[in-house]
Amino acid sequence: MYPGDTLFRAALWRAAGGAVFAGPFRGLRLAPRPFLPHLIGCYERELHPVLERLCAQPWARIVNVGGGNGFYIAGLGRRVPGAALVVFELTAEARAVIAATVARNGLTARTTILGAATPENLEPALRAAGPTLVVMDVEGVELDLTDPARVPSLAATTMLIETHDVLRAGCRDAIVARYGATHRITEIATAPRTLDDFPAALAPRVRAWMPARALAAVQEWRGGPQVWLVLEPRGA
Ligand SMILES: C[S@@+](CC[C@H](N)C(=O)[O-])C[C@H]1O[C@@H](n2cnc3c(N)ncnc32)[C@H](O)[C@@H]1O
Repeated sequence: MYPGDTLFRAALWRAAGGAVFAGPFRGLRLAPRPFLPHLIGCYERELHPVLERLCAQPWARIVNVGGGNGFYIAGLGRRVPGAALVVFELTAEARAVIAATVARNGLTARTTILGAATPENLEPALRAAGPTLVVMDVEGVELDLTDPARVPSLAATTMLIETHDVLRAGCRDAIVARYGATHRITEIATAPRTLDDFPAALAPRVRAWMPARALAAVQEWRGGPQVWLVLEPRGA
């Protein structure tokens, strides 16, 4: 990291007040040194319309598989005040950041933080009563975790899944084949980022002085084109 990056990052953190600046999770308080697309609020902007639609539904439980730094579990938790929150995350380091993010947003009492998800521990997490939303981003492990024979409750569950064909060839096709009969499936593809993804009202002078850094800040550094699947049970 160059000294200019530190200044740029500090300026954005100050301008945003340490909270997500835009998008469905606007106002979500983040742990220090956040991923900049999270702080700016442009992260996964392709999903913003579907997230708005999902946040308007009365979920009893939100299960986030692959919690990362807690952006999704805490963001969704703030938007759906009645929901119990369950987050699976593989690494202890990330689980500590999730705990900090959840605490900053007053969500600790509603949140259960668990380790690596497997079909065996995911299934019981979905069995409790009431409508459940699953948000999954696990770098290819979605192929194992969406096996309907091992996680039968998914047949009646709404899911938002980031697929990773770049890491596990055939993920997307396998999930569509598994759930095409039980769910309505909407596919959303990644789109390129431009400087317009950086909100004009966030640190406008910094953006004008450092356009290359501003552009870099809205990039999500993906390994290639990716697809999300929104799976909603037919008849729900
Ligand atoms: C790309 S990150 C998710 C980022 C998240 N979408 C966000 O916006 O913050 C993927 C995460 O999945 C976690 N992961 C991978 N395999 C997992 C598993 N079996 N169970 C739980 N977490 C897993 C990784 O440790 C990593 O933190």
